[in-house]
Amino acid sequence: MHDPIVPPLAEHGHLALTQSELVAWGERFGRVALPPLVVTMSGELGAGKTTLAQAVCRGYGVADEVTSPTFALVHRYDAPKSPVYHVDLYRLESPDDLTQLGWDELVAEEALILIEWPERAGDRIPHLHVPMSLQHLPHDPDRRLLYAGGHV
Ligand SMILES: Nc1ncnc2c1ncn2[C@@H]1O[C@H](COP(=O)(O)OP(=O)(O)OP(=O)(O)O)[C@@H](O)[C@H]1O
Ligand SMILES: [Mg+2]
Repeated sequence: MHDPIVPPLAEHGHLALTQSELVAWGERFGRVALPPLVVTMSGELGAGKTTLAQAVCRGYGVADEVTSPTFALVHRYDAPKSPVYHVDLYRLESPDDLTQLGWDELVAEEALILIEWPERAGDRIPHLHVPMSLQHLPHDPDRRLLYAGGHV
């Protein structure tokens, strides 16, 4: 496991990003990301997972508008470096339902794969992935805590 991109034990204040800071961070991550790469994005409703996924896609070179795949579960985009899959598992009822989505083939692709609500997939998230998590701050509605690349 590589070192965390943002130190998980840093003072919370150092990790608290405004939306524009989070977007800038995500775009920068996307610009340097190379396939195959699986990124999980955890955090409660409204924490900013889709906002971050959209920024990563933009930085990676996705030209199309990236919209929340809540109903389709998976959206696929083209980008110069590889295809991009944006997955939202919020409505997945059981990890077993991943099989009919073609999950094992999907996560084996030479692609960038961004997964919201990865907890819903149980143990079917590939072992090698970059975990990111976002949390609300109790006293600052405009900022979110971001953890990335460590054990979260
Ligand atoms: N610092 C911030 N970072 C990200 N989003 C922020 C921030 N501050 C405010 N917001 C707002 O919070 C909301 C985050 O929504 P978003 O859809 O990205 O969350 P989500 O984690 O994907 O939610 P869901 O679980 O419903 O899919 C947006 O309306 C955004 O404008
Ligand atoms: Mg979302």
